[in-house]
Amino acid sequence: MDGTSFVRDTAGEKQYDKPRKGVTKMAEERGPMLESISTAAELKDKRVELTGVPTGVEGLDSMFFLSRLEHGKAITQPLGGYPERAVIHLTGISDTGKSLMAEQFAIQQAALGQPVVFVTVESPAPFIVTGLQERATAMGYDFKELENRIVLIDAATYGTLRENLPILFDTLAHVYKNFKAHRTVIDSITGLYEAREMMARQIVRQLFNFMKKWYQTAVFVSQKRSGHEELTAEAAGGFAVSHIVDCTVVVAKHLINSQYDQRLYKRPIGEVVRLIRIDGCRLCGHDSETHLMEITPGGLVRVGPPLKEIAAKKD
Ligand SMILES: Nc1ncnc2c1ncn2[C@@H]1O[C@H](COP(=O)(O)OP(=O)(O)OP(=O)(O)O)[C@@H](O)[C@H]1O
Ligand SMILES: [Mg+2]
Repeated sequence: MDGTSFVRDTAGEKQYDKPRKGVTKMAEERGPMLESISTAAELKDKRVELTGVPTGVEGLDSMFFLSRLEHGKAITQPLGGYPERAVIHLTGISDTGKSLMAEQFAIQQAALGQPVVFVTVESPAPFIVTGLQERATAMGYDFKELENRIVLIDAATYGTLRENLPILFDTLAHVYKNFKAHRTVIDSITGLYEAREMMARQIVRQLFNFMKKWYQTAVFVSQKRSGHEELTAEAAGGFAVSHIVDCTVVVAKHLINSQYDQRLYKRPIGEVVRLIRIDGCRLCGHDSETHLMEITPGGLVRVGPPLKEIAAKKD
């Protein structure tokens, strides 16, 4: 056998390597992929500096940690936000505050002078602008000063963007190049695999790789089905999205409907409490307690004290 056993087939739309009938891939084509191997020292210059990207959510920035050595002892200190260049997965059932948190991130980053790309998959772009404006006002910013720094990609109105990932990538790349953005929000990724849920993992993997390629710090919102256990990170149908992303934050709401709940949460029967927890983050240390969370009358998500502190309080 010689090296001609693989031919280019240009008959179809796409080119691909196609083995000739009865010929298998040759042993000579195997071997180590040397470019994939480096020592840690060689990678030092490519290393990503561990810095915090403010989340816009009061109380959340200090839940991510950084370790440093002081007189030979490891000290942890707040990172001050999501880790730079991380893909953050924000998941929870409906009406838990995910979109508010995504909008708060976009506003906070725009206020810090960062161009932000907001891919809306659920609500058409004009509705998102209304929400962003509300969030900006509640956060004390003049939206007029930020609006030019936020670019919306309307995948809710333009279904092609939801159904055709390469076109979504081309659109994103176009915006990244022209807008020099390093912050992306996708609300929600669930809408990108609707009715083809068995492809969820593959789609999220490609989105994740694309964010890495363009050096994005990204927030991916995903929707959990209400049947799923409240505070687990298992996204819709258990598609293991959390295994792909760098960090998962779970938000939940719980109806106080027993005396046990009343004692635990110190809230009356019939009230709804909201909860938040960082389920995991592979890029930095983090708080792993379940915290109370509230949505202010102005529509801002705010992280409260850990649930164990509330539970330990005397009635
Ligand atoms: N301006 C506001 N003032 C008070 N509460 C608000 C305000 N805006 C939103 N909320 C409350 O916050 C809840 C959460 O809103 P959000 O849109 O973030 O939900 P979500 O988790 O994204 O839900 P879904 O999965 O359905 O998109 C709303 O259902 C509403 O109860
Ligand atoms: Mg939402």
